[in-house]
Amino acid sequence: MQIAIPGGALVLLVGPSGSGKSTFAAAHFARTAVVSSDACRGLVSDDETNMDATPAAFRVLHAIVRERLRFGKLTVVDATNVRADKRGRLVRLARDLGRPAVAIVFDLPDSVYIERNRTRPERVIPESAVLAQIADMRRTLATIPEEGFANVIKVET
Ligand code: CTP
Ligand code: MG
Repeated sequence: MQIAIPGGALVLLVGPSGSGKSTFAAAHFARTAVVSSDACRGLVSDDETNMDATPAAFRVLHAIVRERLRFGKLTVVDATNVRADKRGRLVRLARDLGRPAVAIVFDLPDSVYIERNRTRPERVIPESAVLAQIADMRRTLATIPEEGFANVIKVET
C-alpha cells in the first residue's frame, strides 16, 4: 500500500485495540517517527499496560510530538485516538506549529477487532474496553471528516 503524507506532518493512527495500528506503523514508518502511548506508559512506569500511567504517558507523548513537529519531522501517533477530544488536542498542536495533520483510520468489521484481541499472543485487553473503543470508533467515523485533518485515509484490511 502506498500512501502520500506531506513532509513534516502529524499522522494519527485511529482505531480500536486490535485494529493493527502498531503493525501498520512498523511496516510503513521509521521507528523513530512513531510515538506510541504504550511505549510512553512504559517510559514513565516500566509497564506498557499500566493504565494508571495513562495521564503521565500522554504528557510525555504530547511533549515528544511537539518537539518533533518543531524540527519539521514526520510524527506518527500510535494510540487508539478514537476520542474526538483527544484528537482535537493533537490537531491543534499541529496547527499551532503550522504542520498538516493526517488521519489513518482502521475501519474494519467489529468482529475483526474483537477476534484479533481474543487471539493476539502478546497481550489481551478486556473485551469491555474493546467494546467501548468500538462505540467511540463509530462516532469517530461520523465526525472525523470535519475535524481539521488535511487528509483522512481509510485502511480496510
Ligand atoms: N494483526 C493481524 N492482521 C493485521 C494486523 C494485525 O492479524 N493486518 C494482528 C497482530 O499480529 C496482533 C493483533 O492483530 O496480534 C493486533 O495488532 P496490533 O498492530 O498490535 O494492533 P493495535 O491497533 O496496535 O492494538 P493496540 O491499540 O492494542 O496497541
Ligand atoms: Mg498497538
